[in-house]
Amino acid sequence: MGNDHIEAARAFHEFTKHSYTSVRTSPHYLDWDNRPSPYKIYPGAGSLALPRELALSGKPALEAAAAAADPRAKTALDVESLTRLLFSADGLTRRKRVAGEDYHFRAAASAGALYPIEIYLAAGEVDELEAGLYHFSPADLKLRGLRRGDWREALARAAAMRPSLKESRAVLIMSALFWRSAWKYRARAYRYCFWDAGTILANLLAAAAAEGIPAEVVTAFADAEVEQLVGVDGDREGVMCLVALGRSLEPCGASPVVEPLALESLPLSREEITYDDLVRIHRESRLASAVEIARLHSATTPVVEPPATGEMFVFEPVAPREAMSLGETILRRGSTRVFAREAISGNELAAILALSGVHPRADFPRLTDTYLIVNAVEGLVPGAYYYRRDSGAFELLKKGEFRAEAGYLCLEQPLGSDCAALMVFMAELERVLAALGNRGYRDAHLEAGILAGRAYLAAYALGRGATGLTFYDDDTTKFFEPHATGKSPLLMVALGVPLSRARDS
Ligand SMILES: Cc1cc2nc3c(=O)[nH]c(=O)nc-3n(C[C@H](O)[C@H](O)[C@H](O)COP(=O)(O)O)c2cc1C
Repeated sequence: MGNDHIEAARAFHEFTKHSYTSVRTSPHYLDWDNRPSPYKIYPGAGSLALPRELALSGKPALEAAAAAADPRAKTALDVESLTRLLFSADGLTRRKRVAGEDYHFRAAASAGALYPIEIYLAAGEVDELEAGLYHFSPADLKLRGLRRGDWREALARAAAMRPSLKESRAVLIMSALFWRSAWKYRARAYRYCFWDAGTILANLLAAAAAEGIPAEVVTAFADAEVEQLVGVDGDREGVMCLVALGRSLEPCGASPVVEPLALESLPLSREEITYDDLVRIHRESRLASAVEIARLHSATTPVVEPPATGEMFVFEPVAPREAMSLGETILRRGSTRVFAREAISGNELAAILALSGVHPRADFPRLTDTYLIVNAVEGLVPGAYYYRRDSGAFELLKKGEFRAEAGYLCLEQPLGSDCAALMVFMAELERVLAALGNRGYRDAHLEAGILAGRAYLAAYALGRGATGLTFYDDDTTKFFEPHATGKSPLLMVALGVPLSRARDS
């Protein structure tokens, strides 16, 4: 039992694989009357309205998202800058009326638009905001007060005194209400929750970098301590990660004693179904001991880029100045529903992959690799590629027209066959688990989500389109063999020219 019992992650991964047969023999019908609400509502909590007149970042998105602020930068964090970060990460950006009902879409992509992620804020040194623990409510752009006091030290303690947390101005705590995603994806939703946390992080980290605010993602912490602080049970709502924001002027003092949180939240739907395999893998990847947490913080990457054997292609990435601003990109982002079968340029693809492949400032090392199926990219022959993140080169693995295969691998969705290129994030899970235990299973999916979120930002900044995609697990590995032998696909992103834009032009 516990984080070192890596058979748990192996078994969960195997059990939640999709295949041509599994999706046909295990159909799932959506109970629309029991659809979970995408909002967590605390009727008894006091609220604080955040400013609505927000000028989002005018910096070129490719520049903002690629850079990270100097970790020592003591840039002030105030209510306005904090709101820009929260809105860029998880704000409501678009509304659509479907069958007489309003659906809101958000700054970051979310599988099935189910939005399982919640964000809490432990504010310490935020100008104009009393120190306290708050819940961010994207629906009305308000903070709800959960606890008074400065909780940064308690969070740092939960993470073996991680310096970025101890010296932060504020800490965000991101959790997942698993049922929201499990309503559609059942136990496999566990993976989706980390992907969705990742796309939010991609936006958040870019927005923080644009403001010159240092930010670090921390995933190794004592789950029970953080759960107790935010008042969640770990089974129904689990903590995905912490994000240290800013650098304080003075070290934070000791936090008050954490008493049980008495605030109730409304039920998400009439009934919630528990998926035991999901609960089990979250439990089996929990951490408790500071020694174990500190060991994970110093783990080195298990990824080895194999020696290049195929033909190599290198492009000059499009210059950041030619791309849209980060603010505009976030407001205009929305998953492409249909791609025109048109090519994008090699320079555009290089810019998207270069941005996607920057490892975030985090307490875990690089865990994934990027593979591609190229359908239509100027300067690249159609085929399967391995993207060498270290050098930015595309290594040809096999030539061929693989539109049909690309469409098939992403669960038979035309988005895969019509796109210009299909990115496939993969990881050698055995190495990941050997290095980080079951926690590495969480981290690898989170990393894939961040890389996918960055790919979205880069594609939209260049006026192109993107969409996250799920996939047939083993068939994807087989497609990229022998290069990808032993690797598991973690997430796909299709890139290309949206059909609507192709028509407009
Ligand atoms: C991890 C992930 C997986 C996704 N998988 C699919 C998919 O398989 N098919 C699809 O059409 N869209 C997929 N999407 C796109 C979502 O449906 C989309 O993000 C959601 O409807 C919200 O809309 P928006 O991205 O336009 O804001 C995925 C998105 C994410 C983040």
